[in-house]
Amino acid sequence: MNDRRIVTSRETASDLDLNNTLRPTRLKDYIGQESVKKRMEVFINAAKARGEALDHVLLYGPPGLGKTTLSHIIANELGVNIRITSGPAIEKTGDLAAMLTSLKKNDVLFIDEIHRLDRSVEEVLYPAMEDYKLDIIIGKGQGSKAIRLDLQPFTLIGATTRAGLLSSPLRDRFGIINRLEYYSTDELITIIKRSASILGYDIDGPGAVELAKRSRGTPRIANRFLKRVRDFAQVTGDERISLETVNSALSLLEIDPIGLDKTDILLLSTIIDKFSGGPVGLETISAVIGEEKETVEEVYEPYLMQIGFLNRTPRGRVATRRAYEHFGIAYDDTGRTDNKQQTFFDNESGTAK
Ligand SMILES: Nc1ncnc2c1ncn2[C@@H]1O[C@H](COP(=O)(O)OP(=O)(O)O)[C@@H](O)[C@H]1O
Ligand SMILES: [Mg+2]
Repeated sequence: MNDRRIVTSRETASDLDLNNTLRPTRLKDYIGQESVKKRMEVFINAAKARGEALDHVLLYGPPGLGKTTLSHIIANELGVNIRITSGPAIEKTGDLAAMLTSLKKNDVLFIDEIHRLDRSVEEVLYPAMEDYKLDIIIGKGQGSKAIRLDLQPFTLIGATTRAGLLSSPLRDRFGIINRLEYYSTDELITIIKRSASILGYDIDGPGAVELAKRSRGTPRIANRFLKRVRDFAQVTGDERISLETVNSALSLLEIDPIGLDKTDILLLSTIIDKFSGGPVGLETISAVIGEEKETVEEVYEPYLMQIGFLNRTPRGRVATRRAYEHFGIAYDDTGRTDNKQQTFFDNESGTAK
């Protein structure tokens, strides 16, 4: 996996130190995602007024859009503790049982990458989510017996980049399902200005606009670019980050005017040049760009689909007219039938439903 890629929307080590300083902690400082915010505000206030646990929340969407941030904010707004874990980190049912029993009334349990939960662990979650009960088996074989323990009411917040991989019994147990969307340029400008001021830097209007436009709709990438641009400004002795600084820094990083990097360009040019626009199977694409299939689906493709450069079809990936135009290549659509856009949620694998 290529986490040195600057536009990787996955979290890297250097993001982690930025997170603490740049992560908003209140709903009012969480920029964008207006409908999600409005809805969550109502649900949070209602749960608080009743003194009850908030219903379980599923947050899904591409990496870097603020799922972890929002989970912390929800716990904070509820005034409860948050316990953080992830699907792959819970190896045994006992690990989950220990976590569930340690929760206090109305606390939040945050499970990141919830699509990667082990099946047997997942089954322990069902009665826990539904009735706040924990079913455990004591002993082995003939002499074993099942006992049912009461848990404190709690809120499970699950985050995933791959909602389509969640089993339906698990998905059905979330009362609140929120899909996070890519951010608009204006929202990213607000985020960039806020981050710059927290980091003690000044960025001018045109500089912020340019940075926002190249951040692939993703706050994590915007913040990461800002950090690199800041380094650049420091070296050149600029006090204020200007459009010129942004352009110089990003061209050094080989980011194109709409935020595509070398890997995106390789992905698209493979489909266009080698396969006359597609359809091309996921396997082939991942072999050519040297990334795991999962990474291609989770990290690279969602943004290319969002900007309308790539379609997932039952027969494979297809480059669109817009992608051709971006690279200045003539588009010939004779005989093309694979133009039906599929959504992130419905079908992530590009296979027929
Ligand atoms: N709505 C937002 N407003 C301001 N900053 C945000 C917002 N969403 C995300 N960020 C910033 O982007 C970074 C990545 O967000 P994160 O919650 O880690 O994404 P995810 O968990 O979806 O991968 C955070 O550190 C935070 O600084
Ligand atoms: Mg996260």
